[in-house]
This record gives sequence, structure tokens and C-alpha cells, in this order.
Amino acid sequence: MKGIILAGGAGSRLYPLTLVASKQLQPVYDKPMIYHPLTTLIEGGIRDICLISTPHDLPRFRQLLGDGSRMGISIDYREQARPAGIAQAFLIAASFIGNEAVALILGDNIFHGADFAAAFCQFERGATIFGYQVLDPERYGVVEFDGSGKAVSIEEKPVTPKSNYAVPGLYIHDSEVVSIAENLEPSARGELEITAVNMEYLTRGTLRVEKLHRGMAWLDAGTSTSLHDASAYVQTIEKRTGTKVGCPEEAAYRRGFLNLSQFEEIANTMPCCEYRAYLQGVVKQAGGDS
Ligand code: DAU
Repeated sequence: MKGIILAGGAGSRLYPLTLVASKQLQPVYDKPMIYHPLTTLIEGGIRDICLISTPHDLPRFRQLLGDGSRMGISIDYREQARPAGIAQAFLIAASFIGNEAVALILGDNIFHGADFAAAFCQFERGATIFGYQVLDPERYGVVEFDGSGKAVSIEEKPVTPKSNYAVPGLYIHDSEVVSIAENLEPSARGELEITAVNMEYLTRGTLRVEKLHRGMAWLDAGTSTSLHDASAYVQTIEKRTGTKVGCPEEAAYRRGFLNLSQFEEIANTMPCCEYRAYLQGVVKQAGGDS
């Protein structure tokens, strides 16, 4: 399975922070926000990734992540000239997707405590999306379930939500998604809506909605308040456990994309900092374990 990280948009809700650096480059406690969705894909076993952002911000993402080989992955960069909707990602990345299934993750979505490896690896056809219980579903796409737990509708930011299950920004689709996106009409707000794509799969009878368990965290960091909350969350977990949340180098090592000496090399070439000390601690522990 391939992966797409969508990291464009106007960033207007975080202005003036986003005047010089895009939202997905802002710090979430001790790392750039983009490390989180990147780590989620790597933890799930995806190593062929397309990162989509604005012409203005793409050079900074390249500077940060390079071609991915340092982490044992491959990153292909594509431009989105204007934020014309999440589903436009499938058109921009059409040649990258080819005939393969693809997991699209939004650059401002943070998942912790969830393991998507099984969902990625067992996926065959159609679409798989997720449902996560929230207090304020009206801010998101919302899934309605019938009495037997089957998804019957998805509404984008409904005034009166039919459930408390929001759809997080992680979607798995087969390669049919490209032709579905090609046939979409822009919504009232002028965007190609991801919810319209998922509704098409629902109508075809090939949409699967998996409820995420309550013990995991899904945060989006799109506003000043949610960005602060995400930072506080990451700091709390890291201080309590001594492990990092959203560390792509460690995820790549644990997934087997890097061997121990490649991983150690990454740590050793970093300037002296807390992040390097953490990676070196992981190396030391791994050396002790083997
Ligand atoms: O966070 C999950 C929610 O994301 C879903 O529940 C909704 O169904 C989905 O529409 C989306 O809602 P948002 O209101 O959060 O979407 P937003 O326009 O803020 O875009 C989400 C991210 O995608 C954001 O980091 C910017 C990026 N983006 C967005 C658009 C529309 C792009 O890179 N390009 C775009 O054209």
C-alpha cells in the first residue's frame, strides 16, 4: 500500500504563525507536526509516500525530510496550487497511486495508541475509514450507524450530527478513488470533498467504517487551541513514559526499514540535543537487547 500526506491548505486559522511556515511545520511540543502523520504511516508499514503541499511550502518539507532514504522510505513531492479540497489529492497523486491501494492522511492529524498495520495490510478493495467518538462532532465528517452498527450516512460538518462518531483524517481507498475523484463536482464551498468520495463508496456498498477504540487518542491540530492541546498531550505522554510520540526515525527502525547501524548513524549525525540523546538511548537499549 502507498501513502499520501496532505500538508497544504491556507493555514488561515493559525495566522500569523503560518505567515512564514505552514501549519504542518509548526511544533507539536518537541517536533514538527508532520512527524506525526509520517510516523503513523511508517508504523503501519508504508514506505512509499507522496507528500502534497503548496508551492511555497514544498521546499521546506524537502529540506526537513529529503527523499526519505535516510529513514528507509521514499518520499515523492507534489504541488497543490490552491487548496481546492482534500479529494484533489487523488488527482494530484494519480500517477503515484497507479493501480495500488492508498492511505491518505491529513498533515494536521495526530494519532496515538492506534495500530493501523492490520487495517493497511488486510485491506483488499473498496474503502476503509474510521470513526472516533468526540464531544463536538459538528466540526468533522460524521458517520451515522443503523441499529446493527452498519454505516448508513456520512455528513460533512452537520449542524445536527446523527452520532458522536467523527471521521478522522486517515482514509484507505483502492485505486478506483482516482476515477471517483475525477467525477466529483465541487461542493458549495468550492472544494472536492473527501466526504463525497466516501459517500460514493458507501453507495456502491464497498465502504467499511471501523470504530477506533476509546483508549487511543486522535487529535487534530488545526487551531491555536487544538495545537496547544496536542502539544500538552505529547508532553504529558513523553514525560510520563520516557518514550517519544511521533518519532519517524524510531518507527522506521522498529518496522525494520532501518537496521541498527543505520539508525545509530542517524542519531550520531544530529547536533547535540534532547532528540539525539533519545535516539541514542533507543540504540543503547536495542544493543543491550540483542
Ligand atoms: O480532521 C478530520 C476532518 O478533516 C474530517 O472529519 C472532515 O471530514 C474533513 O473534511 C476534514 O475537515 P477539516 O475542516 O479539518 O478540513 P481542512 O479544510 O481543515 O483540511 C484538513 C487538512 O488538509 C489541513 O491540514 C489542510 C489540508 N488541506 C485541506 C484542503 C481543503 C490541503 O492540504 N489542501 C486542501 O485543499
